[in-house]
Amino acid sequence: MSDLVLELTAPNGLKYSQPIGLFINNEFVKSTSGEKFATVDPATETDITNVYAASADDVDIAVKAARKALKSEPYKSLGGPGRARLLLKIADLIEQNAHTLATIECWDNGKPYLHALYADVPMVVNTLRYFAGWADKLQGDMIETTPTKLIYTIREPVGVCGQIIPWNYPILMVVWKIAPMLACGNTTVLKPAEQTPLSALFLAMLFKEAGVPPGVINILNGVGRVTGAAIASHLDIDKVAFTGSTQTGREIMKLASINLKNISLETGGKSPSLVFDDADLANAVKWTHQGIMFNAGQTCTANSRILVQEGVYEKFVEQFKEHVKNVSKIGDPFESTTYQGPQVTQAQFDRVMGYIESGKSEGATLAMGGVPHKNVNGKGFYIAPTIFTDVKDHYKIYREEVFGPFCVISSFVTEEEAITRANDTTYGLGASIFTENMKRGHRVARAIESGTVWINSSIDSDFRVPFGGVKQSGIGRELGEAGLAAYTSIKSVHVNLAD
Ligand code: NAI
Ligand code: MG
Repeated sequence: MSDLVLELTAPNGLKYSQPIGLFINNEFVKSTSGEKFATVDPATETDITNVYAASADDVDIAVKAARKALKSEPYKSLGGPGRARLLLKIADLIEQNAHTLATIECWDNGKPYLHALYADVPMVVNTLRYFAGWADKLQGDMIETTPTKLIYTIREPVGVCGQIIPWNYPILMVVWKIAPMLACGNTTVLKPAEQTPLSALFLAMLFKEAGVPPGVINILNGVGRVTGAAIASHLDIDKVAFTGSTQTGREIMKLASINLKNISLETGGKSPSLVFDDADLANAVKWTHQGIMFNAGQTCTANSRILVQEGVYEKFVEQFKEHVKNVSKIGDPFESTTYQGPQVTQAQFDRVMGYIESGKSEGATLAMGGVPHKNVNGKGFYIAPTIFTDVKDHYKIYREEVFGPFCVISSFVTEEEAITRANDTTYGLGASIFTENMKRGHRVARAIESGTVWINSSIDSDFRVPFGGVKQSGIGRELGEAGLAAYTSIKSVHVNLAD
């Protein structure tokens, strides 16, 4: 193997080829400075390997490649059907490499192998095939005005995109961004998160194998304030798409203002779950547990604020705790019985532990957990599922995104109070409602300020359905037909037919 593609053996015994270079023009290359950084296995706290880190100069090289590819053959003449074939081919290759991709996700991120294999990988494949379907259906409109005018619109690619990816669902977030980007005929310089750089580089090999022309997809690892900032502020990038924290989203918006980039942002959340007296309680418990504890609580739509109507509050808290005990099995993420792996990094572990201290000192009741979990092998960034009750609305743990296996539960009296308190947040990504009264379900769904509302479930998403936030949870939508808007620009053509 070359020094840019290593032969690695994962903890589950899988031997596979892991690229570590920057992926520019369909080749793996070293960074111009030669600089690298290490990525850590959060289950053992050991380094997996080092990957090359892109500087602003490297970003510039990748942007030139992406700009050239945009208007050159073979990409220029592929057309919608050609791009659809690429997306379908990528989906097939990912399916064939599902075991390897799930292994990398598990190793680098700490998420359970079986979750990666049966949740992340299928969602990735479905998203690619869905957007393949759109690639040859990007049509404009003919707009009636006056008899002496023919006016029509053309949907064009936005151009060169900069795409910045988080670490919680690495391959899924790469594909949510590259599938519509490619379907609509753009090119990209994409930066994975520095906590989980490996799976995107493996995907890069598959993109090349699928026949994606050089320069169309460039993948550059690196830290946010260097590589990410160079992308967000680059004068020859037309659009920036980002998923991550609201704070970084704000920073990216500022940087992107330098050339008024088109932007789409999917940022944080503090999503409420409202459990009404008339809910199917077992169903509410099952979904709110999944909604906050899945992926070790590292999901942007996690229902981290659970508001329960007073008549069922005590019962809900008891059943929720019991369900956590039965289902949230913490352990080695490669073990098939594991539900919860470690937090992704020491920094995230520390951050969640900080919120646990904050909850205790503010006066909330620690009803469960609140401690590191060291029973796996004495190592790893594991945190016991944590529940705080008696939480007041002004507490930090009620207001801020924690991003861990950590929820707050509070009681309410009336529907009106539930809505007011659900909306009392700067975020607006998701909300769930549990009630057997469908009139109430639909009424409350309309009243909630949020990009997504679930009635009687939580946090599941579907490639056909628009996803995104209101307020400080984001700008624009991904997935569904609405996801095309982020990657196309509409040109209006006026034809004067007057003599
Ligand atoms: P982050 O938002 O800083 O990182 C996300 C991505 O942005 C990474 O690729 C990072 O390298 C990049 N980035 C960071 N600073 C940048 C800059 N100045 N310019 C351009 N790109 C930049 O998130 P971080 O620090 O990893 O996690 C902190 C918190 O963010 C988490 O505890 C969680 O609350 C939230 N978060 C939310 C996610 C979501 O899905 N909404 C995903 C990841 C984190
Ligand atoms: Mg890692």
